[in-house]
Amino acid sequence: MSDFWSWYVIVIVALNIGGCAVLLWANRKMSASEAAKETTGHNFDGIEERNTPLPRWWLILFWLTLGFAIVYLVLYPGMGNYEGTLGWSSHKQWQEEVELVEARTAPLFAQYAAEPVEELIKYDEVMGVGARLFANNCAVCHGADARGARGYPNLTDDDWLYGGSPDAIKQTLVNGRQGMMPPMAAAIGGTDEAVSDMALYVASLSRPQLADDPAKAEAIARAKPKFAMCAACHGADGTGNQMMGAPNLTDNTWLYGNTLKDIEYAIRNGRAGKMPAQQDLLSPEQIHVLTAYVYGLSRNADNADGE
Ligand code: HEC
Ligand code: HEC
Repeated sequence: MSDFWSWYVIVIVALNIGGCAVLLWANRKMSASEAAKETTGHNFDGIEERNTPLPRWWLILFWLTLGFAIVYLVLYPGMGNYEGTLGWSSHKQWQEEVELVEARTAPLFAQYAAEPVEELIKYDEVMGVGARLFANNCAVCHGADARGARGYPNLTDDDWLYGGSPDAIKQTLVNGRQGMMPPMAAAIGGTDEAVSDMALYVASLSRPQLADDPAKAEAIARAKPKFAMCAACHGADGTGNQMMGAPNLTDNTWLYGNTLKDIEYAIRNGRAGKMPAQQDLLSPEQIHVLTAYVYGLSRNADNADGE
C-alpha cells in the first residue's frame, strides 16, 4: 500500500472511532430529574416526545466495543501499513499452516519418492495427492481436467511435445520448457503466397483430401520443397521432434488450432509457448508425485479403455 492510501485508511479509521466516542460522550447519562425536563420539543396534540437517556447497559457495551477496537488495532494490522504489535499477518498464518502440513506429510512424500513412477500410478491415494497438487499448481494453465487449452497442451492424451516417459515429464516439470518456433516467412520466400501455400501444405499432412482440389494441389506442390526449411525441427516427414519440442504436424492434435489462419500465424510470427520451471516452487518429492500423476493421466485412461 502506498503511503497515501495507508494514511487515508488510518485517518478514516481514527475519525470513525473518535466520532463514535464523541457521540457517546455527548449522550452520556443524564440524571433522572434532568431527564424528566428533557423533551425533543416535538409536541403532537398535547403529547410530548420525551428525550429518554440511552440505557446504561447499552452505553457501556458501546464503550467496550470501542475499547476492543482500539486494542485490536494496536495488536493486529488494521491501520494502513502499521503491522500491529503481534506481527500477525494472514500470509504468515498461511505460511505456518503450510509448514505444518508439510511437516505432517513429509514422511508420506518420502515414501512416495522412493517408489518409481510406474508403480505410483497404481495407487489411488497417490493419484489423489497428485490431483490436489495439480489443481493448485497446474490447473490455471492446463485446465482442471488437464485437457489443456489453446497454447497449453493436453496432458491426458498420448501426444507429447517433449516426450511422455516418466523421465521426460520430470525434466519438463523440473526445468520447464521453452517452445521455440522462429518466424519462418522470410526463409520460405517472404511472400503472402509462399506463406499460404505452406499453410496448405502443413494442413494437407493431416488432411490429405485438401489436395483433391486442383488449385490447392498446385499450392501444396509449390510449398513441398520449401518444407526442407522446417525439417530440421519438425522432421522431413513433419512428424516432429521431441528433442526440440517441435510438434507432430501430421496428426490431428494442434497446440494452437488447426485452421489455415492458425497455421499461417505460426509461420509468420513463430510460436513460443513457455512451461515454467517448477523446481523452485515445489519440492522434489512433490514433483515426483506430479510426474506420476501426469504420467498416469494418459496411462490410466488407456487401461480404462481396456487397451
Ligand atoms: C503458466 C502456465 C503453466 C503452468 C502453471 C504449468 N504449465 Fe505445463 N505447460 C505450459 C505450456 C505453455 C506448455 C507448452 C510449452 C511449449 O509450448 O513448448 C506446457 C507443457 C507441459 C508439459 C509438456 C507436455 C508435452 O506434451 O510434452 C507437461 C508434462 C506439463 N506442462 C505439466 C505441467 C504440470 C504438472 C504443471 C504443474 C506443476 C504445469 N505444467 C504448470 C504452461 C504451464
Ligand atoms: C527451430 C525449429 C523450428 C523450425 C525451423 C520450424 N518450427 Fe514450427 N514449431 C517449432 C516448435 C518448437 C513449435 C512449438 C512451439 C511451442 O511449443 O510454442 C512449432 C510449432 C509449429 C506449428 C504449430 C503447431 C500446433 O500444434 O499448433 C506449426 C503450424 C509449425 N510449427 C509449422 C512450421 C513450418 C511450416 C515451418 C517451416 C516453414 C516450421 N514450423 C519451422 C519449431 C520449429
